[in-house]
Amino acid sequence: MSESLISVAYIGAIILFILSLGGLSNPETSRRGNLYGTIGMIIAVLATVLGPRVSADGIAWIAAALVIGGALGLYLARTVQMTQMPELVAFMHSLVGLVAVVVGYASYIDPTAAAGMSPAEESVHHVEVYLGILIGAVTLSGSVIAFGKLSGKIGGKPVLLPARHGLNLALLIAVIALGYWFLTAGSNDEGMKPLVAMTVIALLFGVHMVMAIGGADMPVVVSMLNSYSGWAAAATGFMLSNDLLIVTGALVGSSGAILSYIMCRAMNRQFLSVIAGGFGAGAPSTAATGGAAQPAGEVVSVSAAETAELLKEANSIIIVPGYGMAVAQAQHTVYEITKYLREKGKNVRFAIHPVAGRMPGHMNVLLAEAKVPYDIVLEMDEINADFPDTNVAMVIGANDIVNPSAQDDPTSPIAGMPVLEVWKAQTSIVMKRSMASGYAGVDNPLFYRENNRMLFGDAKKMLDDVLVALKA
Ligand code: TAP
Repeated sequence: MSESLISVAYIGAIILFILSLGGLSNPETSRRGNLYGTIGMIIAVLATVLGPRVSADGIAWIAAALVIGGALGLYLARTVQMTQMPELVAFMHSLVGLVAVVVGYASYIDPTAAAGMSPAEESVHHVEVYLGILIGAVTLSGSVIAFGKLSGKIGGKPVLLPARHGLNLALLIAVIALGYWFLTAGSNDEGMKPLVAMTVIALLFGVHMVMAIGGADMPVVVSMLNSYSGWAAAATGFMLSNDLLIVTGALVGSSGAILSYIMCRAMNRQFLSVIAGGFGAGAPSTAATGGAAQPAGEVVSVSAAETAELLKEANSIIIVPGYGMAVAQAQHTVYEITKYLREKGKNVRFAIHPVAGRMPGHMNVLLAEAKVPYDIVLEMDEINADFPDTNVAMVIGANDIVNPSAQDDPTSPIAGMPVLEVWKAQTSIVMKRSMASGYAGVDNPLFYRENNRMLFGDAKKMLDDVLVALKA
């Protein structure tokens, strides 16, 4: 394949990636977006593999890697549960980080990589190697810890070392000093020493950074690591002088950064304070400690039949899905109930909190899978003002996103996070298995409100019973 043909293929792939990102921003166009991305990636891989930089021997290696990687990817895509997606994404980010580190070392050791470069060009190349390995190593270890936290293998509580900000600053100074040593090293052997030392520091920093971040801030961390993985890929592109990788990495890096910003806004958090860590360390759940600050009031539980009665009497209903709906895989029954109620002329809508579930768009994906029409699925900002005019707000396996203490209790760990105001509806019904707290580990005073009812049990089982009672 000639250089010019490769350039054309790369430009085509870049356009397809941009179209893909555009498509993925809306559930209605997301399938098309996915298709654009897939075609773009196939073009990108073919153009690179068939290009002049890959020898005939190399093609055999790449083909073998493609078969193994493709088979693993296919297996994962078919077997992974929706609830495990965030940890899978974190795992994938760690691979991007690993690649940036490995390519960085290979590019430094490879005698042909800097062949024919002027001293100035070689210095630039070394800066690329250093930064690529730095970003890659932080992404690698940070993502591994994020994977552990999201999959429950590591506790969600932030681990805060004494004087951690000072420690981070010291690590940063060490990285800069090692960078100077690396760039002024007389030989590759000498340069290896600061490079390895910096890699170890970057790996430790990644671990420290994510360990210090509390459970409730994990959505921001996932999108932040997504952004880092993009910058790691872009750095790899610089090391390999591959324009496509630079542009693609920059697209992923900047879209991840925008997503982190949106997440922070949704949770009323400052990006820098998330990175500084510590959120969720204080105020342990009163439910967990059995402390005196238990919310006042009585918990009133209802049966599935009583829930069906409340729904039958209601004209306007808002359904608030949360993580529990994903765990119970209740979305299909939710759809059946929605269909039934709409056929009876009721106004049924869905309210989606930006951090409901465990990944951005989690609820939208599940509802789309169950064929819930998009036009009745509304974002928090679009629907929050409608709760006072609503007869029944039905909360399915959600907890933190409907916690009034975010507004009422300035000492709450989730104080200031915008929440769906379900308690303003005439009646709210919360469907969950117990009084346990949600992801952030804080008690929920909603359960004790006078106009709230609790329907205890697995969401799928309870909704099946509600559907039977509705149709009876
Ligand atoms: P949570 O606050 O985690 O509450 C989910 C509730 O579902 C739990 O209290 C649990 O109570 C219930 N549940 C679990 N399994 C159930 C089942 N089979 N049937 C019925 N109920 C079940 O979820 P949320 O309200 O969706 O809020 C999301 C939280 O996750 C936020 O704190 C957010 O910051 C965090 N987070 C979000 C993301 C993204 S990007 N969306 C990523 C990471 C973390 P029981 O045990 O009593 O049933």
